[in-house]
Amino acid sequence: MSGRNVTVVGLQWGDEGKGKIVDALAGHMRYVVRFCGGANAGHTVLVGDDKFALHLIPCGVLRQGVCNIVGNGVAFDPATAWGELSALRDRGVTVTSENLRISTAASVVMPWHKLQDTLSEAALAKGKKIGTTARGIGPCYSDKANRTTSIRAADLKDPAILAEKIRSIVKIKNTIFSALYDAEPMDAEAIVTEYTQLGENLGDMICNTGGLLRKAVADDTPILFEGGQGSMLDVDHGTYPFVTSSNVTACGVPSGAGIPPSAVGQVVGLIKAYSTRVGEGPFPTEQDNEIGNAIREAGNEYGTTTGRPRRCGWFDAFAVKFAVDLSGANELALSLLDVLTGMGELKICTGYRTNGQDQEMFDPAAMSGVECVYETLPGWDCDITGCKTFDELPPEAQSYVNRVEELLARPVGLISVGPERDQTIVHHTQVEGLG
Ligand code: GDP
Ligand code: IMO
Ligand code: MG
Repeated sequence: MSGRNVTVVGLQWGDEGKGKIVDALAGHMRYVVRFCGGANAGHTVLVGDDKFALHLIPCGVLRQGVCNIVGNGVAFDPATAWGELSALRDRGVTVTSENLRISTAASVVMPWHKLQDTLSEAALAKGKKIGTTARGIGPCYSDKANRTTSIRAADLKDPAILAEKIRSIVKIKNTIFSALYDAEPMDAEAIVTEYTQLGENLGDMICNTGGLLRKAVADDTPILFEGGQGSMLDVDHGTYPFVTSSNVTACGVPSGAGIPPSAVGQVVGLIKAYSTRVGEGPFPTEQDNEIGNAIREAGNEYGTTTGRPRRCGWFDAFAVKFAVDLSGANELALSLLDVLTGMGELKICTGYRTNGQDQEMFDPAAMSGVECVYETLPGWDCDITGCKTFDELPPEAQSYVNRVEELLARPVGLISVGPERDQTIVHHTQVEGLG
């Protein structure tokens, strides 16, 4: 295991509170690296009264001395990145080529990807829709795999190549979109003008980030890998086809950042104390009732990127154990525990049953229509948002954490009891500088 490196990945359906935990750990790091997804992510960080919602720029941007990297595995949207970067600068955050670097090999999200995302979702029948964020993620990764219709961040630095590629790809896309969706043709020249300007704005940040990171690995410089989405949304291992289009578990770090598997470091698996999901797809512990509504309101469970209400339900230890094993999580960070305050008795799903038979092994392809096996735990009513140590938590909250540790067979390193930086209880963590 590489010395001081840490990987933070979500073990559920995203929105586990990665922004807050990455920010907490980033103070000890030299690099913070996004390796998957794109502007479909929405990572919230609270710094005092200031709330930041980051989509493409890694959360380390809010810490001094951190170099933030958008890795080759990211679907990089230069228009969103430039908007985000400018908004950060307007709020007094320094963002320069010193603290933000973008991989030359990152695939670029272009206007036609966002258009296709929207058109294809609209054309799908009910029950077939994925419920994407409409950020062009799926179409961008499709073109990456297709190669001849893809633009890479390196191309943004070369106006002639960029213009030529845009003109030839727009021709293809216009033909397809017109035939499939009866769409109006896109104006290639307007796109050339806009993206040439974006290339000029961002060009000095686009470089060989893989080389930079491998040098950091060789020098034992600490790196934090910031996951996007959550394990159940992984394109290979999630609830396909209701997934995103990249490898979002710790397995995606080496290829998405360009470092050897041995440099992934300590894997912190992030879980929220219950479950949420945005978009379509199976969600066995969903509570489409008063309980789910109460969780949504207490946890303010509305999408950071799209504002959509999140589907809410009980903690699913059966699904999360699969994600723990897949990412090889060494420890867990448990977030949003305070949201369960006052909910009465709490349930944790420990297994699935199909036709009265217990499922032996979790299988993301066999989640529809399963019956959940629940364990009931006592709840608590007192406010825990001011607790600074595990011992200050009410006994019922302690039991809940202990049971999660038992079921997942991993220590809970950190417990988050509120969105603020100082609302974090350091428990059984092995992460250097925290324990
Ligand atoms: P991410 O995508 O995993 O970074 O998570 P999001 O930012 O999309 O959603 C998490 C939300 O929960 C944000 O609004 C955070 O400010 C908030 N949050 C994070 N940790 C806690 C916590 O322990 N308690 C509460 N109440 N809110 C939290
Ligand atoms: P963070 O990093 C929650 C979901 C979408 C949809 C599916 C596919 O904030 O946890 P896409 O636009 O990627 O093609 O949508 O994936 N999704 C997320 N859900 N949090 C995210 O990111 C997500 N990123 C994508 O809602 O169901
Ligand atoms: Mg989010």
